Amino acid sequence: MTREELLSFLGTITDPLTGQNLVLANRIQNIQIENNRIAVIFAFPPKLESRIKSELNFKIVEELGKLAPGFEIDLHFGNPDATHKKSSNLPQIKNIIAVASGKGGVGKSTISVNLALGLKSLGLKVGLLDADLYGPSIPIMLGLKGKRPEIQQVYGVSKIVPLSAFGIPVMSIGFVVEPEQAVILRGPRLAGIMKQFLEDCLWPDLDVLIIDLPPGTGDIQLTLVQTVPVTGAIIVTTPQTVAVADAIKAANMFQMTGIQVPILGIVENMSWFTPKELPGSQYAIFGKGGGQHLANLFNTSLLGQIPLIMSIRESGDEGKPSIQDQTSDSGIVFKQLAQNTLDRLLYRNQTLAPTEKVKMQS
Ligand SMILES: Nc1ncnc2c1ncn2[C@@H]1O[C@H](COP(=O)(O)OP(=O)(O)OP(=O)(O)O)[C@@H](O)[C@H]1O
Ligand SMILES: [Mg+2]
Repeated sequence: MTREELLSFLGTITDPLTGQNLVLANRIQNIQIENNRIAVIFAFPPKLESRIKSELNFKIVEELGKLAPGFEIDLHFGNPDATHKKSSNLPQIKNIIAVASGKGGVGKSTISVNLALGLKSLGLKVGLLDADLYGPSIPIMLGLKGKRPEIQQVYGVSKIVPLSAFGIPVMSIGFVVEPEQAVILRGPRLAGIMKQFLEDCLWPDLDVLIIDLPPGTGDIQLTLVQTVPVTGAIIVTTPQTVAVADAIKAANMFQMTGIQVPILGIVENMSWFTPKELPGSQYAIFGKGGGQHLANLFNTSLLGQIPLIMSIRESGDEGKPSIQDQTSDSGIVFKQLAQNTLDRLLYRNQTLAPTEKVKMQS
């Protein structure tokens, strides 16, 4: 089944609200066809009656099942515009996704940057917050090194205006202090800065704010979950056993009683290396299967496996993220990662209650 075939099938189904077909009525938010699985995300208003939803679901599953026998059919009646946070000091931000890991250097910042731009290319409004206050790398990865944000007065209060890179708003401690100075920051200062970045920044209306965290489970992670309701966390790991062992600790933090941030999925980075001279081969330099193992442990999905590709490192260093060339090997994997993440995000918002901000205990 091709995308076109799927769309033309959906064009034969009547939209229960307008009487037009589903395609003309603009109900198709996202479609995905891979490995014998068809996933369609529909955009319906949040209050669509569940009876209508289940009738539509049955009809599509039955008819599509005949057209594409052997395919698993996965339908989400999502509402991308719904806000999934009960109360928030950031009402203009619909979803907050934290990108975390146990070990350092596994690729959180690389994933955050490419995921943010990938989600933007899927039509979402996305922002990026570099919360690695000890070692900010986003300024370099987005070509913003040395830039300073402006301060704007809003009703007499000073607010920081995020910088813009490739069309998305970005904030980082690296815009405020030199990266070498960041390491001297300690607990209470860190919490203060995190709060400022969330509350005293002029973030525009966003579907998703991606937050790139430092490795591990420290003050920054705790301040984050105490300051805003985090919609979900993405855990980045390499396939290596020691990285996975540390990633389990990071994931456990989000799942602790009282915190309960859903794990949206796992990204396995540096999964294998394919030399140019041997295009069909995959060398599992850091081992195999770690990402899937972690996804199984936390009952979540493996959002993607990103190979070791020299251009990913180079484009990070040059401030030109890989995803910007969506036809390159790395662009293709990052685009798929963004699709899978959006899919999981909508699924999460349909199946789970909004996250609540963690109550301060100290
Ligand atoms: N798939 C990949 N292929 C090649 N190089 C990669 C890949 N992923 C990340 N890198 C490179 O590895 C280095 C570490 O990545 P990155 O800074 O994203 O990790 P991190 O988890 O954010 O690190 P830290 O814990 O220090 O914040 C960077 O130089 C980056 O360009
Ligand atoms: Mg980083």
